[in-house]
Amino acid sequence: MEAEAKPVIEKLGLTALADSHTLRGNFPRFQGEFEGKEIIISLNGKSSEYGVDRIGTEFAALNTQSAILEFAPDLIINAGTCGAFSADADIADIITSDQPVVYHDHRVPMEGFSEFATGHHPVTYKPDYFQGVAHKLGVVTTGNSLDMPEVDRQIIEQNRGMAKEMECASVAAVASLYGIDFFPIKSVTDHVDIELDNVEQFLENLNRASLKLSETLIKVLTNID
Ligand code: ADE
Repeated sequence: MEAEAKPVIEKLGLTALADSHTLRGNFPRFQGEFEGKEIIISLNGKSSEYGVDRIGTEFAALNTQSAILEFAPDLIINAGTCGAFSADADIADIITSDQPVVYHDHRVPMEGFSEFATGHHPVTYKPDYFQGVAHKLGVVTTGNSLDMPEVDRQIIEQNRGMAKEMECASVAAVASLYGIDFFPIKSVTDHVDIELDNVEQFLENLNRASLKLSETLIKVLTNID
């Protein structure tokens, strides 16, 4: 989302790239150099119909492929916010992963298809990248809904999901298709297991979580050689 990316775009002093005008609703991109590394931030953009951020897996996958074809990156990071169980993480905690990313809302109970649907897309975890960065390691679990119906909860628990979010598995799938190293950095906006409505929590904590995300991303970028 634009709100998640704004603090880091400002801190890194990235500049907006011109629209390519090939699509109805571009992927807004920002470019710059940071400690000798070329950085591109590519957002999923806004819906031309509804004016809101194009959250979810379809635009994340399209955006990732489009950015790979245009910039041929060495490394892809999916940075954003997530929900988490209150026993696992506090608001604004940072979660990354050393385990494959899964989907919790792809259910196809047929031989082979079930595993395919779950995803299990690879993640690269290099402890050096997170040197001096407070973070938790857990499974990132992706679905296209903010709520958590019982069936999703059961699957998340079976997979020992820690960060519940809406893009990571699709970005990981595309990165894997092109053989590019990938990892997530997620900052917690809401607890998925308390009475308080997720939307309320999300809106209340979005700025704090996005700020933490930007600080973490900058530290991680500094650590990458
Ligand atoms: N992003 C932030 N919080 C989330 C949640 N609870 N579910 C899915 N995506 C999220």
